[in-house]
Amino acid sequence: KAVGIIAAALSAGQRKSGVDTAPIVLNEHGLSTQLEQLGWQVKVNDMLQNCEPWRPEFDPDVGRIKEPRFVGAVNKALAEEVRQHCARGELALTLGGDHSLAVGTISGSTSVYGDELCVVWVDAHSDINSFESSPSGNLHGCPLAILLDLFSDKPLVGFEWVKPILKKERLVYIGLRDVDEGEKRILRENNIKAFSMYDVDKYGIGKVVEMALDHVNPARTLPIHLSFDVDALDPTVAPSTGTPVRGGLTFREGHFICEEIAATGQLVAMDLVEVNPSLGDKVALEQTVKIGCSLVRCALGETLL
Ligand code: ARG
Ligand code: MN
Ligand code: MN
Ligand code: MN
Repeated sequence: KAVGIIAAALSAGQRKSGVDTAPIVLNEHGLSTQLEQLGWQVKVNDMLQNCEPWRPEFDPDVGRIKEPRFVGAVNKALAEEVRQHCARGELALTLGGDHSLAVGTISGSTSVYGDELCVVWVDAHSDINSFESSPSGNLHGCPLAILLDLFSDKPLVGFEWVKPILKKERLVYIGLRDVDEGEKRILRENNIKAFSMYDVDKYGIGKVVEMALDHVNPARTLPIHLSFDVDALDPTVAPSTGTPVRGGLTFREGHFICEEIAATGQLVAMDLVEVNPSLGDKVALEQTVKIGCSLVRCALGETLL
């Protein structure tokens, strides 16, 4: 079994600097060595370690949307990297970077696995704002609207290459608690399955993960792409992130999601995004980086016993 670790230093999907340094910091913390110790053959892909070569000279806002050409170009290159790893049968592990990179990673995984691919999106946010609904203009709040082709009548500048292969029936959320009004409408109108923190409180994480997998992957036979935004975790657990929201997943709840997905044996791609080493003090950073590494290890098969 082999894993391709793609360092994706993309930060233009939001406004806080530092999130682009996370892949290096996570690797310095020993992530690739840890995965080797779990029995994985690790291939490090540093093609997008520096995204500057993809930055256009001229990238004015389109409506409220910021840096669409740059974010689009990086994602296009990322999609090709993920596609190559998946096509070789390797697990594509992308270390972000901000969550706008999921346009590229999921485009890459669906280009190999087609519309059978299931996406489990673990996040405080639903990241499904459209051109019209985005309150911030930050593309890390929009990746799912772009992937599901809910964005606009015509594709956003920079994203013309995106093929809408992901099916909305194959998407499920866990951990939501900060969803914009426009996003609530989009989720409702498109009948997209979401388990919020209310559901985690009401049913417990065990039942929620079971229900989420039953929805997208009833027989547990379809390939899974796990897109894990560290801000799904409570800020007391993972403080170094750009858009923290109170009332999040506990340490164990976060790990449990990864363990259950590992147990299906169907994980083909994972994103770990929104770790920002520049936010918070040294203790906060150490804590966030450590949990980032352990979430990945759990998703890749580490067990407690
Ligand atoms: N919904 C807000 C927006 O559209 C926040 C999105 C935060 N996304 C994230 N990947 N952390 O700007
Ligand atoms: Mn997110
Ligand atoms: Mn988020
Ligand atoms: Mn469209």
